[in-house]
Amino acid sequence: MNFNIAVIKGDGIGPEIVTEAIKVMDKVAEKFGHTFNYTQVLMGGCSIDATGVPLTDEAIETCKASDAVLLGSIGGDTTTSPWYKLEPSLRPEAGLLKLRKSLGLFANIRPAYLYKELKAACPLKDEIIGDGFDMVIMRELTGGLYFGERKTVEENGVLKAYDSLTYDENEIRRIAIKGFETAMKRRKNVVSVDKANVLDSSRLWRKVVEEVARDYPEVTYSHMLVDNCAMQLVKNPGQFDVILTENMFGDILSDEASEVTGSIGMLSSASLSATSLGLYEPSHGSAPDIAGQNKANPIATILSAAMLLRYSLNLDAEADAIEAAVQKVLEDGYRTVDIMSDGCLFVGCKEMGDAIVERL
Ligand code: NAD
Ligand code: IPM
Ligand code: MN
Repeated sequence: MNFNIAVIKGDGIGPEIVTEAIKVMDKVAEKFGHTFNYTQVLMGGCSIDATGVPLTDEAIETCKASDAVLLGSIGGDTTTSPWYKLEPSLRPEAGLLKLRKSLGLFANIRPAYLYKELKAACPLKDEIIGDGFDMVIMRELTGGLYFGERKTVEENGVLKAYDSLTYDENEIRRIAIKGFETAMKRRKNVVSVDKANVLDSSRLWRKVVEEVARDYPEVTYSHMLVDNCAMQLVKNPGQFDVILTENMFGDILSDEASEVTGSIGMLSSASLSATSLGLYEPSHGSAPDIAGQNKANPIATILSAAMLLRYSLNLDAEADAIEAAVQKVLEDGYRTVDIMSDGCLFVGCKEMGDAIVERL
């Protein structure tokens, strides 16, 4: 079959990791008889340099007209890059947020799974790891603090900054449904994470999650405060199946969960809308500290490409093949620097991509 895919390489390690993911997708296309037509789209710092804005209207239209969007990562070093001297709405991240909102990508799925081959890269003790863990973080992506009203004003000679956190019940309901639907296909457990001991938005979150839960009697669920969840993730990660949470909490908890899988370079993500159009990107950033050095782990991006095939193109066997090739490459001992351990074969970004393609 023929598919149109918008490709956003972005900044920092973005071009390196996307190149590897495209190599893998091309191999899948060859093996399964598909054609993927790629259209390159600018977003982030590279778009600022070329057009003056982090995301043009044409770029949004190209994404909307595609079957799916594959993204590397955007942004630069936030302390030294000149992009962070621009007004906030013109900085790289504003492009990503605008794209998420424009495409209606309210559901961000971040699977955190410990490959047994990566036990040595996991910072937790063996007795905590136990039989390993396999969780999904279901993060709300187009509401909350990220999209609330924001301003900085001077009041009586004192600077004051405001960021507002709002959710309406419909925004909560649709992500809660996604969380419970996902749990139904897994181990049927949801932990909804909030800060209901302090925040009104969290109290509404709890109320709506409880309503949604009534439609899923087979799913066991509980509520957990976000500070406790941060602690439980390193104390007993095996307890989690689906973590359902709002935008900012999900951002922070997914980085934490990624590290216990061995590295943030392993954590893929899918951002889904009410239609089949989705955006697929690693959960990590542009890693300016290692950009251009062939050091980045491309696996998170390659696994995101597998999610693209599965969720937007409905190509399950093809997605399975990529996941199996990643599993095999880890069994065969290939490791980038972030997941390296004794006795393994140290490789760069490109060599990791090649090794995965060979196993397809
Ligand atoms: P980061 O995720 O880019 O890097 C954090 C650390 O993880 C760094 O030490 C980096 O080298 C390492 N790392 C990240 N990805 C890796 C990979 N694939 N392989 C090996 N090591 C990897 O986070 P940061 O440094 O806080 O942010 C850098 C920039 O990225 C910022 O401009 C930020 O806004 C942006 N960012 C973008 C996205 C995105 O595009 N979705 C996500 C997060 C951060
Ligand atoms: C992520 C990133 C983004 C976020 C930034 C770059 C806006 O950290 O995708 O996790 O906070 O959502
Ligand atoms: Mn993040």
